[in-house]
Amino acid sequence: MKHFLILLAVAGTMSLTSSAQDVLMENAKFHAGDNASWAGENVDESSWRDIKNSATWTSQGVKVENGFGWYRYHVRLPKSLLEKSDLKETVDFILGGIDDADETYLNGKLIGKTGRFPSDEKGYASQWSTKRCYRVPVTSNLVKWDGVNVLAVRVYNASDPGGMFEGPIRVRVPNTVDNLSISFTEAKAANGTLQGISTINSKMKATKSGVFAVKVVDPETGETLSEKSMKVSVNEKKNKAIAVPYDNHRMVRIISTFTESKSGLSITSQYIPKYILTPAAPATPRFNTPSLYGVRPGSPIHFRFGVSGDKPVKITSDDLPQGLSINPDNGALSGSLAKAGSYTFTVKAKNAKGEQLQRFTIRVGSTIALTPPMGWNSWNCWGLSVTQDKVISSAKALIEKGLADYGYSYMNIDDGWEAPERNPDGTIGVNEKFPSMKALGDWLHGEGLKFGIYSSPGDLTCGGYLGSIDHELQDAESYNSWGIDYLKYDWCGYGRKHQTEPDNHTVASYVRPYLLMERCLRQQPRDIFYSLCQYGMADVWKWGEAVDANSWRTTGDITDTWQSLYNIGFERQPELYPYAKPGHWNDPDMLIVGKVGWSDNLRDSRLTPDEQYTHISLWTLLASNMLIGCDIAQMDEFTVSLLCNNEVNAVNQDILGKQAKRDVEDGSIQIWSRPLSDGSYAVGIFNVGKTDAHVDFKKYFPQLGIKSLKSVRDLWRQQDLDTSDVTYFIPTHGVKYLKVKSEEPIGRRQSMKSEE
Ligand code: GAL
Repeated sequence: MKHFLILLAVAGTMSLTSSAQDVLMENAKFHAGDNASWAGENVDESSWRDIKNSATWTSQGVKVENGFGWYRYHVRLPKSLLEKSDLKETVDFILGGIDDADETYLNGKLIGKTGRFPSDEKGYASQWSTKRCYRVPVTSNLVKWDGVNVLAVRVYNASDPGGMFEGPIRVRVPNTVDNLSISFTEAKAANGTLQGISTINSKMKATKSGVFAVKVVDPETGETLSEKSMKVSVNEKKNKAIAVPYDNHRMVRIISTFTESKSGLSITSQYIPKYILTPAAPATPRFNTPSLYGVRPGSPIHFRFGVSGDKPVKITSDDLPQGLSINPDNGALSGSLAKAGSYTFTVKAKNAKGEQLQRFTIRVGSTIALTPPMGWNSWNCWGLSVTQDKVISSAKALIEKGLADYGYSYMNIDDGWEAPERNPDGTIGVNEKFPSMKALGDWLHGEGLKFGIYSSPGDLTCGGYLGSIDHELQDAESYNSWGIDYLKYDWCGYGRKHQTEPDNHTVASYVRPYLLMERCLRQQPRDIFYSLCQYGMADVWKWGEAVDANSWRTTGDITDTWQSLYNIGFERQPELYPYAKPGHWNDPDMLIVGKVGWSDNLRDSRLTPDEQYTHISLWTLLASNMLIGCDIAQMDEFTVSLLCNNEVNAVNQDILGKQAKRDVEDGSIQIWSRPLSDGSYAVGIFNVGKTDAHVDFKKYFPQLGIKSLKSVRDLWRQQDLDTSDVTYFIPTHGVKYLKVKSEEPIGRRQSMKSEE
């Protein structure tokens, strides 16, 4: 059996992985600017720089906005590529996404175009996320078989980031099996057990026959847990499905293979079903929020005690400081405390199964956000199509699905709420999608939740709505009147003003708009979490605290791919740990689990389940803002289990407030650790490589400074582990997340790299 093409399905979506027969192109010569002659075969490239197509040009130090750049590739195409195809119809150039529009030339001739340039008849249109596949018929003599071909890609970028980013480019002459695909869904069988349904589909009119085999495999041992196969015939009107049962509390892989009878070629797809590690919460009440909360003197308090357990749970206190009250039905704490100081009292949570007490301290002083903010933001799900109803629907689901019981409390509206023009008195208004900000704020506060909003120091936001320029104080006053508790202040349109400023090379020029809004916010009689969003420019982490920001985005926007998660989480954060502290946090952007889409079209996150475990583990280690970015109303059991593991969240919310440092980088194994207030350490062992790994934790003890291990706990499973057997199976892109106690302090040494 020949495995010609491997299709890898991740969490319900199929994606192509490399096949031996594809010709791959990753490295190009690059030139910014535009010149029609650069499409041709013979161009002097001696002054051109090297560039990769696996990441945007922005991430490789190129800055071209509202302009062009050219990539040129020289590639030998072996004739065997053509000869080995059983179809021999087209030569496909698969380019992936390009930010924002492109024209692609092969040996001087245009073979495809996606998106539109500003000079085009209908004007500019971005198609940055569209996957390009340009086809050349094999009958055309454009392709030089066994010779060197020049592929030239002319790219237009409107705003950062820009360029090609989903490389490598693949050149392929498709086979019959390339017109077949395997899809996968998870469903409940009639008896309630979970089953995976694997389906073989065809795009061809002609019927093709073969053997379709599906098996459930334990990736750790390689053991086949169950398998089914049958002879099937498929065409464009007829597909075939096989259902296999599996256990969704266990890590398994479902591998489906179709082998076409005539050619003997196969396609294989691997699906990783979502699996739940977080144990169910006990029926008795359990406090899941930290025991410390910061507020400024006299500011209104909106806080909700997060308590799990069978409902109803009554939350009360006999020694509440004067000026405060608790709604026993939802645990909403309200009121205010005029004098600075620490106020400690006991809170009781009681239900039919039992009760629990928690000592709780309110620290009244100049610092708020003593632990990172947890909540929701509308952007990664709804994008600009957010409405008041959608915010309410997610807020209700936050309560009903129990996320509020785990400390998620901010409900933040991102871009898209603003009226097209200011009111005659200069104040900002809302558009028709938001009937009443004040009513929304009041309702959220009644539930003990918090209310967040978005604006820009520029004339326009990133979405083209009104920004706050020249109206900063008026806007801060409006926010106060609506009951806003969080402002995300996004650079965007300010870039245009900044460009014209004579001192725009200085840090002061980056600080200026943020300081201005900070002064306006601080004049308001309430605490407004101040979230800077300017993608890390001018090393914002070095001065964020000085403008009294509570958090600052450290990078550009995240999206729901491993590449994005890896670049932002693993590449951009290691040096930033010294800057995070209670009240002031690095923000590597919002969460990308659950149903996301940046529009009305939502989809399941494209991250595999293991990548999602990595995402939440790393973000809790990084003491990051934990802002859910999906529609909570549609959140499934798996995503709830990811976001509501009290021991995992406790790392994020640990009151010591120390961000993790990367202590080990050994090939594809990375170990990050962070000290916790109880003297233990949270330790994430990550496998960022493409294959599963067995990792001997002990091997890294010298680098981590561990001589004697007192205890090891698996945070996701909430189980104590044997300290004498510390070899762990860590799947590709997955994590083993531990809480470790040792006689010695762990990590925190100067060396960042493996000493090997
Ligand atoms: C971007 C920002 C996103 C989102 C968007 C709204 O600049 O990074 O998180 O807020 O603007 O238009």
